[in-house]
Amino acid sequence: MLKKYYYFAFFILFQFLLTSCDSEKSETKKANTNKSATNMFENDPHSYAKPQEAVITHLDWEATVDFDTKTIDALASLSVETWEVATKIILDTKGLNIKKITLDGGTEEVTYSLGDEDKHMGSALIINILPETKTVNISYSTAPDAEAIQWLNPAQTAGKRSPFLLTQSEAILARSWIPIQDSPGIRFTYNAKVKVPKGLMALMSAKNPTKKNINGIYEFEMTQPIPAYLLALAVGDISFMPLSDRTGVYAEPDLVSKAAYEFSDLENMVAAAESLYGPYQWERYDIIVLPPSFPFGGMENPRLTFATPTILAGDRSLTSLIAHELAHSWSGNLVTNDTWDDFWLNEGFTVYFEHRIMEKLYGRDYSEMLASLALQDLEKEVDAMIKNGQKEDTKLKLKLKGRNPDDGMTSIAYDKGYFFLRNIEEKVGREKFDGFLKAYFEENAFKSMTTEKFVKYLNRNLVRNGKNGITMAEIKGWIYQPGLPKDRPKPHSDKFAKVDSVLNVWKNGESIRTLISQKDIANKTWSTHEWLHFIRSLPKDMTIKQMQELDRRLNFTNSKNSEILAAWLEQSIRHDYKWAYNSLKSFLINTGRRKFLTPLYAEMLKTEDGKIMANRIYKKARPNYHFVATSTLDKLLGWEEDKE
Ligand code: BES
Ligand code: ZN
Repeated sequence: MLKKYYYFAFFILFQFLLTSCDSEKSETKKANTNKSATNMFENDPHSYAKPQEAVITHLDWEATVDFDTKTIDALASLSVETWEVATKIILDTKGLNIKKITLDGGTEEVTYSLGDEDKHMGSALIINILPETKTVNISYSTAPDAEAIQWLNPAQTAGKRSPFLLTQSEAILARSWIPIQDSPGIRFTYNAKVKVPKGLMALMSAKNPTKKNINGIYEFEMTQPIPAYLLALAVGDISFMPLSDRTGVYAEPDLVSKAAYEFSDLENMVAAAESLYGPYQWERYDIIVLPPSFPFGGMENPRLTFATPTILAGDRSLTSLIAHELAHSWSGNLVTNDTWDDFWLNEGFTVYFEHRIMEKLYGRDYSEMLASLALQDLEKEVDAMIKNGQKEDTKLKLKLKGRNPDDGMTSIAYDKGYFFLRNIEEKVGREKFDGFLKAYFEENAFKSMTTEKFVKYLNRNLVRNGKNGITMAEIKGWIYQPGLPKDRPKPHSDKFAKVDSVLNVWKNGESIRTLISQKDIANKTWSTHEWLHFIRSLPKDMTIKQMQELDRRLNFTNSKNSEILAAWLEQSIRHDYKWAYNSLKSFLINTGRRKFLTPLYAEMLKTEDGKIMANRIYKKARPNYHFVATSTLDKLLGWEEDKE
């Protein structure tokens, strides 16, 4: 106990000395928020780092990208701040080939050890240092199967001419391409110099080029401190199109105009977000549209959102995903979940913010459709999880120690998180809640947040022991109890109610041709979200004849809208509607977005014939998928054992 006090006093003194001696290095000072007394490091169950002994504050990365060997050869120089009598610094690594480590400007190799490899966490890299060590320089190369990196051959791109590289670091894959303290509570600034084959462009989650450089060398700077899960790199035949002074879009040349059309409202989105919760803090906001194997819809890499091409619907109907990634520029990138157990703080806030942006730009009707779809997803998943014995995972606060943090990526963090925040909004009133959120982002910018700290903050600044229309008991129920509280917000969409009534008349025998005219289809009387609601609500006992009737009129099987197509394909498998199977096969081979893949494969696995089909398709499609997708699907299809 006493020892702890001494330690703490030393901590404060050390912190004071550090910040007061360091007047020129303002960026380093920012990174020092890592160690402010009010924001001590929590124990992160997914990182080996011991930041209380030595913590990184800056990364200098010099790398050469080699498409032939599928490796990145690099030198990572990490600035470190040491603690008391530090004798070592611990980094996270996974599958890296460490070649040489030196300290500061020295050339002499320093001793280090690599701990045992854990399936999820990789190995600790323990480097012997001195208390006065300022920089640790690590020469290494990545493994060809580094989990964050996907190496695409030209055939897997839109242009079919050049290879492509993309990374996905969240949640704990940054360590597979950079030796780093890979914990969301540890922030650092970075600089990088990346050499790529001539003719290709490199982009990172940093200040980016807009033109190709003939020698293939690109330099990057990220002056705001970020956690490792926001490190990102993309390399390929990429071009840029500006959308406003501070926004723009990157994509392969064949796609960039289509992308610019789709995201033409981007500046308005940023402005809408700022009007809600304060200034955008990352200078530029650009999007890169990646090849279709990108495993997510979007990833909020700072300054440069990574996005799937499956949102290019041609009619701007799937842009709420961009509102979501943009919203992370506040919830997540400014105020970050301290560990992956607090993941809902990133995603629940972001879904709430996303809906508010969409409401502001396109009206309440629009955002209520999003909310209604979210509630459908949530109720379905909560039921399934409870049936599946995963009741504990339906709490907002998770316990992911010893597990893959990916297990926390369910509707609970996203949609239960959303409805929890919406519930507070409805009880205390929007004005008060908005004031609270704005202050929350401002006061906690560039810091991390635990669920417990948030609960305290919420009580102090908004709930105020029940004085504002909501009690702490209700708050704690949402966070620490499983399932969904009965008293939850009830989104209402008149548009969906109309869809329901058309469906009812159809179910009672009226033909779809009478209910939906050619004109309705041509004029797009129904939006993508109405169609999604329609498809999701189709009767369980629907006949093949009925599916044919719908398809003849509405042509779902050939839909160019990925969300509509995926929803229809799921129904097609469920009802063994073989006319859609060619479309299903090509969709699964050409798309790597896990959110679409998992339900389709899972649906196939429910029957014996379906299992055969699933395995056959997976064999062909698997080489097109990122590790994030194959790790989920290998488990689902039972491919884990016979992988190699
Ligand atoms: N940050 C997430 C993606 C993520 C989460 C990657 C956890 C790895 C681990 C991103 O912001 C996200 O939520 N993407 C969603 C978009 C959607 C909810 C609009 C996706 O990809 O489906
Ligand atoms: Zn998100």
